Amino acid sequence: MKVLVTGAAGYIGSHTLIELFKAQHEVCGVDNFCNGSAEAIARVSEITGEDITVRDVDIRDEQGLGAVFEEFKPDAVIHFAGLKAVGESNEIPLEYYDNNVNGSVTLLKCMEAAECKHIVFSSSATVYGDSQYLPIDEAHDCAPINPYGRSKFYVENLLRDWALANENVSSVALRYFNPVGAHKSGRIGEDPVGTPNNLLPFISQVAIGQREKLLVFGNDYETRDGTGLRDFIHVVDLAKAHVKALEYACRTTGADEINIGTGQGATVLELITAFEEVSGKPIAYEFAPRRLGDIAESVADVGRARQILNWTAKLGLKDMCASAWGWQSANPRGYDE
Ligand code: UD1
Repeated sequence: MKVLVTGAAGYIGSHTLIELFKAQHEVCGVDNFCNGSAEAIARVSEITGEDITVRDVDIRDEQGLGAVFEEFKPDAVIHFAGLKAVGESNEIPLEYYDNNVNGSVTLLKCMEAAECKHIVFSSSATVYGDSQYLPIDEAHDCAPINPYGRSKFYVENLLRDWALANENVSSVALRYFNPVGAHKSGRIGEDPVGTPNNLLPFISQVAIGQREKLLVFGNDYETRDGTGLRDFIHVVDLAKAHVKALEYACRTTGADEINIGTGQGATVLELITAFEEVSGKPIAYEFAPRRLGDIAESVADVGRARQILNWTAKLGLKDMCASAWGWQSANPRGYDE
């Protein structure tokens, strides 16, 4: 089918393009390149042997986006475009609401105008806020604790309302836990701007010698070793989940939210050890105070993904670390070689 991918040049978008091509879908991307890279698209082309059209369009630009819909006439949309840094969202909340929420409203308007009825949305486990029980299932309360998380939650609600008001449309919001890793080719991967906020990109930069040491935020949590515990999910598994969600969206109606994780947690120290083992690089680290807004543990209940999408994660912690290292070691400066 014909799939329009917003945020196609980003970390998860670029990995998903590969899986879409593998599943024989026809793809058109849009990106405003505020955080995505044209080089990522070129490399996806090289990996897949496919010509890829990615239009330089901001999803808030109704006219520009509408023109892409008119020309490409997609059957469905996978919507990644959005700002995603939690800390930054506290500083510039209006930018977050404008990009993430208003951008999604504009996207839905364009979909309506083009009679495009199905959407898969890139949501986040951040919508849950502090976990009240583990593993976290989709019925868990949603109480996001920062503007980024709230913007994702508002879009989920927006999609629900849109699906209620329109017959024959469908939306599937995928609530990602902690996406990490890279494509096995080492040609595409996560390329954070400036100092990485997330754990694995930071570890990779310590391994390559760009950062002196990792600060481990908190060693007094009630976890098996005192450090934070997360459900890390390989970006290639996550990309495959999007293809399953897309196919599901196209044979159903209504709105749905589905967790995407492995159902297994690993602590910060366990991730460091796994990375050291696969890379052969010692990771210097130091314990530091807890990071504001962090929770102790987050693990997905993945029953719904298995049941509804017939999808489960296949790749483990070592694959995640090995592919992250493969990408980092081959591209010490990311796409800015
Ligand atoms: C973060 C975001 C979340 C987003 C997710 C995407 C926050 C508060 N949350 O989740 O909204 O959906 O990324 O992957 O930013 N850690 C260190 N040292 C570091 C970096 C992280 O010890 O330099 C620890 C953290 O304290 C945490 C774990 O590593 O225990 C994972 O952190 P991170 O990769 O930032 O992910 P989350 O905080 O779970």
